[in-house]
Amino acid sequence: MKSKKYTIVTYGCQMNEHDSEKISWILENMGYIWTDDKEDSDFIIYNTCLVRENAELKVYGQLGALKDLKRKNPDLILAVCGCMMQREEIRNIILRKYRHVDIIFGTGNIHKLPQLINRYHQSNETVVDVVEDNREIVENIDANRKYSFKAYVNVMYGCNNFCTYCIVPYTRGRERSREPENIIEEVRSLAERGYKEITLLGQNVNSYGKTLSYDYTFANLLEDINKIDGIKRIRFMTSHPKDLSDELIEAMASLDKVCEHLHLPIQSGSSRILKVMNRKYTKEDYLRLVEKIRNRIPDIALTTDIIVGFPGETEEDFNETLELVKKVEYDSAFTFLYSIREGTIAARMENQIPDDIKQERFQRLLDTLYPIFYKKNLKYQDKVVEVLVEEVSKNNEKVLTGRTRHGKLVHFEGDKKLIGQLVDVKIDNVKTFTLEGHII
Ligand code: 5AD
Ligand code: SF4
Repeated sequence: MKSKKYTIVTYGCQMNEHDSEKISWILENMGYIWTDDKEDSDFIIYNTCLVRENAELKVYGQLGALKDLKRKNPDLILAVCGCMMQREEIRNIILRKYRHVDIIFGTGNIHKLPQLINRYHQSNETVVDVVEDNREIVENIDANRKYSFKAYVNVMYGCNNFCTYCIVPYTRGRERSREPENIIEEVRSLAERGYKEITLLGQNVNSYGKTLSYDYTFANLLEDINKIDGIKRIRFMTSHPKDLSDELIEAMASLDKVCEHLHLPIQSGSSRILKVMNRKYTKEDYLRLVEKIRNRIPDIALTTDIIVGFPGETEEDFNETLELVKKVEYDSAFTFLYSIREGTIAARMENQIPDDIKQERFQRLLDTLYPIFYKKNLKYQDKVVEVLVEEVSKNNEKVLTGRTRHGKLVHFEGDKKLIGQLVDVKIDNVKTFTLEGHII
C-alpha cells in the first residue's frame, strides 16, 4: 500500500516548533511520510499561535484557501491544533465557518492524535478534543527533530505569571516542571545519538522546580546536564527577570557548556508600564540585574523582547524604553507591536494606542536598536569564534551558516559536510544581524 503523506504548518514560538516535531514523530510511527507539498498531502496539520493577532489571521486565511483542495481530494484530513484551539470561541469559529476542518485538538493532547484520527475515520465527523485545564505532563513522546545536532528539550510547561498583555497562561495552562530524571535521560539519549547542542524550553525557566516535591532548581538542572558527555552547548529560553537568581548567574558563569547568552525580556523601559503589565520588576531592578550579570559574565550576549504601544504608553514612557535599550546595549531584540488579545486584562484597558502611533514608535525603536546591534557585533571583527554549522545559506549554496556560543549568526564558505560540526571561523566583516568570516 502506498504510504500516506503529511505536512505540518507551524506558527509561533520554539515551544510550538517542538510540539510539531513531536506530532511529526507520532505520525511517522503511524506510517505517514513527510511532504512539503500540500497538494500531495493526505494529512495537513496547522499548529497555531495566539500570541499576536497576525499569526491568528494567517491561519484563517490558510484554512479558507484549503477549501478547494479538500473538495478535490475528499480523503484529505485537515487538522488544526495548538494555542488557538485552547479558546472555545475560536473553536466555535472553526466549527461554524471552516466546516472542512476534520480534527481539532489542543496543546495538552498531542499524544492522543492516533486515537483522534481513528475517531475521525469511524465517524467521518469533525472530532474535537481539547484539555481545557492543562495540568498533565505526558512523557514518552519522542520528537522527529528538524536538525540532527541541536535539539529542543522541554523542561516545563505553562505559565503562572499572567502578564496583562499575554494569552499564554490561558492557552498553555498552569506552570508545571518535568521531573529532572526524565529531562536528563532525554538529553543523555540525544547525546548518544550525536546531538551537540541542547536548548531547554519553558515559558519561564527560572521558576523551574517549583512544582516538584523536592528542592531542585534550574541551576541544579544545568549542573546535571553539564555533566553529560557529548553535549557541547547548553542554551535555554525564556528567563523572567523577576526570577533570575544569583544561583543561576553563578551556574551560568561556572558551567563550561552553558553558552554566554541570556534572553531577558524587558517588554518596556517604563516602570509605570511594567507595573500595568504585571511584570513585577521596575526599570531600576532590571538595570541592577543586568549589571550583576555583566559583572559576573562580562562578555555575555543579552537579547530581549520589547512591546511597543501597550495601552496607556505615553511618549515619555516610550522614551524611557529608548533610553533603556541604549543603556543596556542589547545584542539583539525581538520587537512587537502591542496586539489586543481577547481574554487578557490589557484587552479591556480603555487607553489603547492608535495604530499609526504604534507604527511610528516601532520604527523609532528599530532606528535606535540597529546601530546598537552593529556596534555590539563590531567587537568580533578579526576575532576567531567557534561556530556550530547549521545549514547551507538559502541565498548561496557555497556559503554555510551557523551560530556562535553567543548566539551570533555567522556566514562563511565551506563544504556542506561540515553541517553539524563545530568549526573555528575568523570574522572578516561585521553586519547588523550577521558576522562574515572564513574557516581557519
Ligand atoms: N502583543 C504583542 N506582543 C506580545 N507578546 C506577548 N503577548 C503580546 C501581545 N499581546 C510578546 C512578548 C513576549 C513575546 C514572546 O511575545 O514580548 O515576550
Ligand atoms: Fe506570557 Fe508573561 Fe508568561 Fe511570558 S511570563 S508567557 S509574557 S504571561
